[in-house]
Amino acid sequence: MRKKPFIVGNWKMNLTLAEGVEFAKSLRKSLQNKNEIISGICPPFTFLKDISRVLEGSSICVGAQNIHSEKNGAYTGEISALMVKDTGCTHVLLGHSERRHLFGEIDSFINAKMKTALSIDLKPIFCIGETLNEREEGKTKYVVKNQLKNGLLGIARNHVEELVIAYEPVWAIGTGKTASPEQANEVHSFIRGFLTDEYGKDVANSVYIQYGGSVKPENTKELIAQPEIDGLLVGGASIKLESFLKIIDAASIQ
Ligand code: PGA
Repeated sequence: MRKKPFIVGNWKMNLTLAEGVEFAKSLRKSLQNKNEIISGICPPFTFLKDISRVLEGSSICVGAQNIHSEKNGAYTGEISALMVKDTGCTHVLLGHSERRHLFGEIDSFINAKMKTALSIDLKPIFCIGETLNEREEGKTKYVVKNQLKNGLLGIARNHVEELVIAYEPVWAIGTGKTASPEQANEVHSFIRGFLTDEYGKDVANSVYIQYGGSVKPENTKELIAQPEIDGLLVGGASIKLESFLKIIDAASIQ
């Protein structure tokens, strides 16, 4: 049986607190009777508490965009897993390509963050994906496999089962270039195969695999129609309520 599509908006470093709160209120109203999908938003840290409050008791998940791997300590400017959990968050984006490429985050650091998040029941949305060069050199599967292997190192089956994995080809993020539905499905299928080999079919099937990279209302239907695409991670098109709702609508009609 197909899972309910899981559609998450990654606001990145956008909007004001007031705009974010208004957005959350309207989103809650608009999705009141929508039971055929699961949705979520990942606002900036400083909005998390207010937005979690607005969405409390609804089916809309709230996620942070990052955490540090340590639970506390002398890490000026960082935010811990416990701190974001305390705001009411249930999810956290980890390994996003902007963190990897703009801030130099490496697999072992991401793996440590994954373990910390899971240890306090904060669910990672674990992002992976190849660069344009890597795709052109035919290394997509090699890169994705390594990110999976290293990111999931030492994580128990029962935790892997709860994961959301977001396949986001770096060349498609914020560029307007979307992977074709077939290209995305092929990598999703490869990811599912990796999970099946490592953790068995049941675990592999329960993991949500989202696609991300220039998702917009116009390409949602064909992406979500792919058998291995369980959901979408939406950046640019998630910061306007109207386009995010259009994406949610398009993902609901299958
Ligand atoms: P985009 O971003 O939809 O703007 O390409 C996706 C992401 O970074 O998660």
